[in-house]
Amino acid sequence: MSEILLQIDGREVKAREEMTVLDAAQSVGIFIPTLCHHEKLEPYGACRICTVEVEMGGRTNLVAACVRPVEKNLVVRTRSEKVDRIRKMLLEEQLAHAPDSVEVQKLAQQYGADKDRFEKESSFCILCGLCVRYCAEIKKKEALGFVERGPRRQISFVPEIASKECWSCKECFPLCPTSALQAAYVLTEALAFPGSSRAAEL
Ligand code: SF4
Ligand code: FES
Repeated sequence: MSEILLQIDGREVKAREEMTVLDAAQSVGIFIPTLCHHEKLEPYGACRICTVEVEMGGRTNLVAACVRPVEKNLVVRTRSEKVDRIRKMLLEEQLAHAPDSVEVQKLAQQYGADKDRFEKESSFCILCGLCVRYCAEIKKKEALGFVERGPRRQISFVPEIASKECWSCKECFPLCPTSALQAAYVLTEALAFPGSSRAAEL
């Protein structure tokens, strides 16, 4: 496995070729915020809160650090005016969906995000997919998934699987960046009213 050198926030960082920019930053203690990343799961790139600036051959791009592979001589800036502006806007959008999420609120404060910028559409879910992917990739159960499209997209448990698997597992609950109780609520609803759940359409 060959090592390469890149630069992150002005520091020379050694990384293995298979690492992402997020892995490389974390390996030397440089913090990049994440909301849909989990070290045991495949990179997903949904929330974009890990957006950083990368420079290569004189060109600068904005990329999601959790899915961007490292590259020799890549120059990475984890904070810049552009990066902060994008993170602020993403957090404002997420606050419209999950205004009570402590994790989102903490980041929002750091980036000066305005919780009232977008009209509230409280679904309590920011569609990070952590619960869905954890169930599929780690537990191999697929007891929950996404249903609907666009603004109506949401998570839903599959009652037939959830009724057998979930109450003795619940490992996805604490992964949720908006509220562990949200997953519990959706699960209870799916099991109590399986007919009314859109999970049946999965
Ligand atoms: S319920 Fe929570 S963990 Fe699941 S997709 Fe929504 S925000 Fe992510
Ligand atoms: S943490 Fe990278 S896109 Fe969500």
